[in-house]
Amino acid sequence: MVERDGSAAGRGEWRNRAGFVLAAAGSAIGLGNIWRFPSETARNGGAAFLVVYLACVALVGVPVMLAELSIGRRTRRNPVGAFMMLRPRTAWPLLGGLGVLTGIAILSFYSVVAGWTIGYLLKAVRGDFSTVEKASHAESFFRQAVGNGHWNLLLHGLFLALTVFIVVGGIKKGIELASRIMMPVLLVLLLGLVFFSISLEGSGSGLSFYLKPHWSDITPQVVVAAMGQAFFSLSLGMGAMITYGSYLNRKENLLSSACLVAGMDTLIAFLAGLAIFPAFAAAGANLEGLEGGAGLIFVVLPTIFSSIPFQPIGGILFGGAFFLLLSLAALTSTISLLEVGVSWAVDELRWTRLKASILLGLAAFMLGIPSAFANGGSRLFSGKHWLGMNFMDAMAMIFITYSLTVGAWLICIFAGWVWGTKAAAEEVRAGCENVSLVRAWTVLVRYLCPLAIAIILAVIYFRPGVIPT
Ligand code: TRP
Repeated sequence: MVERDGSAAGRGEWRNRAGFVLAAAGSAIGLGNIWRFPSETARNGGAAFLVVYLACVALVGVPVMLAELSIGRRTRRNPVGAFMMLRPRTAWPLLGGLGVLTGIAILSFYSVVAGWTIGYLLKAVRGDFSTVEKASHAESFFRQAVGNGHWNLLLHGLFLALTVFIVVGGIKKGIELASRIMMPVLLVLLLGLVFFSISLEGSGSGLSFYLKPHWSDITPQVVVAAMGQAFFSLSLGMGAMITYGSYLNRKENLLSSACLVAGMDTLIAFLAGLAIFPAFAAAGANLEGLEGGAGLIFVVLPTIFSSIPFQPIGGILFGGAFFLLLSLAALTSTISLLEVGVSWAVDELRWTRLKASILLGLAAFMLGIPSAFANGGSRLFSGKHWLGMNFMDAMAMIFITYSLTVGAWLICIFAGWVWGTKAAAEEVRAGCENVSLVRAWTVLVRYLCPLAIAIILAVIYFRPGVIPT
């Protein structure tokens, strides 16, 4: 049974608010911030993308996050169970099911990229970065690294095994503890990198590419990409925050938690861009023609680390520390991708946590095999046979651009119109005194967010060309 005082029997709960905020921030902060955000920025014109992205986070991201958290805390269930409880005998639980599926699908290729970070960690520690002085070397260095399908597969498996291990440990001992330690260290290291990168000679054009918007660069493509990236980076649209909210008790302030999590996530993404673009310019790359692409940070960062003084020690220390933390940040994200499915299997199928974690982890592993071979490892999966792109990019498009956007839209419709803002606002007000902010939120989820996301979906539908292939 669900107990309203917050002691849902046997489900586990966060130790305190800081534990929850750090775990949610841990879920949000990951490869999305440090790997995907800079490449999306590069691909979409730099500063213009940054501006649109910030607007998407504030006006749509935060309200959707609040909607998810309130659904989760009210029901204390996984996404499927939550919709079943609020609207039994309707099709809404299918939305939760889509979330579980999307989580496993995103996990399947996310952990391949996370595997690259472990591979780069090993390279950094071996001192390999000191051989990569020019951006052009770095490119082939990257191709070689990710073109080895079997090595990718091994690292992908290793990363999933780590994820399963922590998820088996449960809420307090596993997820919360892991996030508490790793997040603060990542921030400090990233700041160090930013200062170093800005101090490099020739970094200025990188800064202006990133920070000086040309308003004419804001096209439908930029807006679609920014919105998708906002959902991905904030872990929205598939019930991860419903799940995390379900472990939260009613004394906590959902509104300020959502703002805090979104703020930290955005700060880390912003700093990642601030570290990447100046360094890229300093390495002599042409920013205007930049394609972005999956490899951007894996190409740029080694050149930064190789130009740090006192080689090879400087590169080993800084590069090693950075890729270690990036792997850890990815881990706190993969945990949440798996946790959605696990909470569903534990609540609804009555599996043990151990069985659910292992079986779902295995499913993600199998589904990820083609992605491990999609960057040079196999002609079939690397070729542009998958919706005109390689297998991994196709998975990202289906499950990030489409599924998260549709999911976030339906969650707004649900909170704003079906469950209704009256009930939703009542849940948000538990633990939050600020009535006018809660009211502003109800207006956003009911009108602005569904409308804005609907426009994005319409653009994707009627002008499929806006999604770069
Ligand atoms: N937000 C994470 C990142 O930026 C990825 C992620 C974890 C995610 N859990 C999610 C994305 C749930 C969407 C939904 O790396």
